Amino acid sequence: MAKQVYIETWGCQMNTYDSKRMLELLHTVLDYIPTEDPAAADLLIMNTCSIREKAEEKVFSCLGRWRKLKDKRPEVLLAVGGCVASQEGSVIQQRAPYVDIIFGPQTLHRLPNLILEAQTKHGLAMDISFPAIEKFDNLPTPKAEGPCALVSIQEGCNKYCKYCIVPFTRGEEVNRPLDDVLSEVMSLTEQGVREITLLGQNVNAYRGVMHNGEIATLGILIAYIAAIPTIGRIRFYTSHPTEFDDTLLQAYGEIPQLANHLHLPIQSGSDAILAAMGRGHTALEYRAKIKALRKLRPTLSLTSDFIIGYPGETEKDFADTLALVEELDFDHSFSFIYSQRPGTLAAALPDDVSLEVKKHRLYRLQQQLRLQAAQHSQRMIGTQQSILVLGVSDSDPFKLMGKTENNRTAYFRGDSSLVGQFVTIAITAAAPYTVEGELVHEPAYA
Ligand code: SAH
Ligand code: SF4
Ligand code: F3S
Repeated sequence: MAKQVYIETWGCQMNTYDSKRMLELLHTVLDYIPTEDPAAADLLIMNTCSIREKAEEKVFSCLGRWRKLKDKRPEVLLAVGGCVASQEGSVIQQRAPYVDIIFGPQTLHRLPNLILEAQTKHGLAMDISFPAIEKFDNLPTPKAEGPCALVSIQEGCNKYCKYCIVPFTRGEEVNRPLDDVLSEVMSLTEQGVREITLLGQNVNAYRGVMHNGEIATLGILIAYIAAIPTIGRIRFYTSHPTEFDDTLLQAYGEIPQLANHLHLPIQSGSDAILAAMGRGHTALEYRAKIKALRKLRPTLSLTSDFIIGYPGETEKDFADTLALVEELDFDHSFSFIYSQRPGTLAAALPDDVSLEVKKHRLYRLQQQLRLQAAQHSQRMIGTQQSILVLGVSDSDPFKLMGKTENNRTAYFRGDSSLVGQFVTIAITAAAPYTVEGELVHEPAYA
């Protein structure tokens, strides 16, 4: 009987992508099949995230539960990967000596060898090195799972924002060559994928070597992908304001397949805090980019990440964030309380905003963002929206469920043959994160 693997994934979409590729690799090389049941698994993998505090504690509490499974069946293998493993590999080794495999985001392609090593020596197999971009050359062809697919175009990050652990866990920024990215996209399109999300920590800094030795920017990569006739929508996640260059702006002007949505994290609306974070731009520079973009795309939905209570954040700094949120009319965004991360430059600063104040500011910001998200949805009533149909509604078998360009879940009556296609619907009702509508156009081609 084939062996079974259970994988638990935390963190960002990069981890979601990595977990999917690991399952494909383990299936191709060692014939493992995925299971949803940890107790049935022969191999349990934790793909961890360390972006905010308590990450390490979460690892050890999960390992505590998994250890009981291993006590019952000692042949079960326990593996810890991802960003916590990358930074705290030796701590995990010391505190949980029963763990069989420790690997990092850049060594996941070596999992089959690590498994064999752990089995032969009955002890820990660990590899948390950063062997540049070789992981992509050692993974099987990706399998499509529905009409949307993630494609990693870049690993690591060189920005070293002062609060952030990612450059330490994922290593230096490395770009995949353009042809590699395009062949992955092509193989997904051949399997019915219609929407591609390009992934990396700072994808608008993408510089992909082309076969003729020239360098492609993100704007150029998007143009190549848009030339594939069945690709109806392109997204990218996530990007940094300083690298938002003219080729990307041009792409928004010329490429309708580029979704009418941009996730461009600003973190704070205060110049003093942006400088203290080492973000490398001011609020005014961010505003100018959005203004130029909205000249080309007046209805562009803009989302961001915000950090609340960064060291030194005053009530005035926070008020600047709230004012910017209102002025630029941010849509549904992510906001987090600042969390001191070991080894980062900000860890040396006093974490001087009290938890009570942080929580209150977070609450106020989230209220404002919720209100604006609801207003965005309300404004969609009476408009026509392009929907990628993802499936049949869970609550009503006569309704279909899909996504708008601005990430609302949309429900409407239609035939299940439309799943996987783009349709146009007229919006008739809206809640903050969902809309209802009626079918206007069926797809131009099936
Ligand atoms: N590369 C992306 C961010 C990836 S991390 C970018 O620069 O936009 C996702 C988000 O986590 C960040 O945008 C930030 O808002 C948040 N974050 C990162 N480090 C954090 C920390 N130490 N405390 C709180 N939030 C943090
Ligand atoms: Fe972290 Fe900054 Fe890199 Fe984003 S750009 S991953 S916040 S260091
Ligand atoms: Fe977390 Fe690592 Fe992603 S720290 S946010 S899993 S890059």
